[in-house]
Amino acid sequence: MAGEGPGHLAIIMDGNGRWAKDRGLPRALGHRAGVEALRRVVELCPAYQIRYLTVYAFSTENWKRPGAEVQALMALMDEFIDKELATLKKNGVSIRVLGDLASLASGLRKKIEAAVESTAENREMILSLALNYGGRQELLRGAKALAKRAQAGEDPEGWGEEDLARELYTGDMPDPDLLIRTGGEQRYSNFLLWQVAYTELWYTDTYWPDFGEERLVEALTAYRGRQRRFGGV
Ligand code: FPP
Repeated sequence: MAGEGPGHLAIIMDGNGRWAKDRGLPRALGHRAGVEALRRVVELCPAYQIRYLTVYAFSTENWKRPGAEVQALMALMDEFIDKELATLKKNGVSIRVLGDLASLASGLRKKIEAAVESTAENREMILSLALNYGGRQELLRGAKALAKRAQAGEDPEGWGEEDLARELYTGDMPDPDLLIRTGGEQRYSNFLLWQVAYTELWYTDTYWPDFGEERLVEALTAYRGRQRRFGGV
């Protein structure tokens, strides 16, 4: 494959429910197949020089889903850490979380925090899980942090974009170069609103559980064929 990048790939993993419905299966099994797809993509990243992978695992709006589905998603995250942590560590993957873990059950929260802590020094790849994440909530949180700094005496006139950027969950991570959304919808759904300012978008009708190397290469080829001008000429 010709060309460079994306160094940072973000994904909205949509279509798990419809994938399950098409097969007459409960939605939870669609999410389980979705975790398998995520595992596949994490493993593919190094071969395509993708150093940052950021996925939308659970939004602040997803609490509105039926209790059983929320439970199933939480159980899958728990299982993912149990099953994958050793391999992720071995492969030098650092796990980060974007979002507010406070509303998660304390057992799961502690397990996720321990996984983040024990992989913090890894540098081969950064896997960010957006968990109980909302883009507007993230911006509001950043604005509040800046307001506190102003209250403490800093002069807002001296701030630039990087000051707000640093108060976001993504901190000093580079912005995504490419955002893939599976499942046919063409919207952001409150994902990384600040960070996608100059991100290239790529949509596919493929449901997330069916996403694999073929679709990934299609997306990367499209990305590498585009000219990114960042507002210039
Ligand atoms: C959207 O599909 C998908 C989600 C709301 C959850 C995505 C989560 C995973 C793939 C598992 C995450 C697990 C880990 C370990 C990070 P949908 O349910 O909205 O599908 P539909 O639009 O077809 O109903």
